[in-house]
Amino acid sequence: MGVLAGILLGRRRRPNTQVYDQIDREKLPAHVAVIMDGNGRWAKQRGLPRSAGHRAGVERVRTIIRMSSDLGIRYLTLYAFSTENWKRPADEVSTLMSLLVEYLTKELPELHEKGVRIRTLGDITALPEDVQAEIARAVETTRNNTGLTVNMAINYGGRQELVAVVRRALTEGVPPEKVDEAWISSALQTAGEPDPDLMIRTSGEMRISNFLLYQLAYAELYFTDTYWPDFDEAEYAKALVDFAGRDRRFGGV
Ligand code: IPE
Ligand code: IPE
Ligand code: MG
Repeated sequence: MGVLAGILLGRRRRPNTQVYDQIDREKLPAHVAVIMDGNGRWAKQRGLPRSAGHRAGVERVRTIIRMSSDLGIRYLTLYAFSTENWKRPADEVSTLMSLLVEYLTKELPELHEKGVRIRTLGDITALPEDVQAEIARAVETTRNNTGLTVNMAINYGGRQELVAVVRRALTEGVPPEKVDEAWISSALQTAGEPDPDLMIRTSGEMRISNFLLYQLAYAELYFTDTYWPDFDEAEYAKALVDFAGRDRRFGGV
């Protein structure tokens, strides 16, 4: 089949083997967390509306999920919407919500086929009904899958998550001596998952923006100036190669 025919028939691009060759499979993170930032600036740079940046950003969500799954990475957490993002204009919020629904509707079959398990972090109940329904369908369909787990952080805030943990301890009357690191980990929304080994933030901003405050305690941090819509396979490979070269001491020598 010719290249053109392949494109017309919607055949997926073949993975870029050169990119994959640079990655040491023995030194991959088990859990990668990503603050997908810079969609608005990417669009502005091109004289496009911010919504065009968000749309382009969805393509990179596809790329990073596919590549993580192909590499055998176990967990991927994507920060899609923070508890603070409600401060944005209503039309931008609604664009982000529609893109989420569109993405899940379109991608669910392929994700399911790849054995991807979709989970969410954050308070989903505050989202529009149709968004909640589509998320529930994706989570339900993929719940028994054993491949890559993708945590979609939507209406997520690290502080709100910790507040919920404390409230739970109090309402359940958990004895103080039972509240240790293991108990807290089990009460977080990431219960049962390893903490992120690598946290990537795109677009040159060097802050955490209320992301996984407890879980990132010993994550290796990787910041790049690249805007999220430009964070392609080669950029992700660069981050993974950088991670492989880190000396993780966890307070030891
Ligand atoms: C990230 O891009 C997407 C979300 C926060 C949902 P931004 O929309 O924050 O893009 P910038 O930071 O304004 O460029
Ligand atoms: C963080 O990006 C949230 C997400 C990527 C979903 P923001 O663009 O909202 O963060 P700030 O406002 O620059 O800290
Ligand atoms: Mg931003």
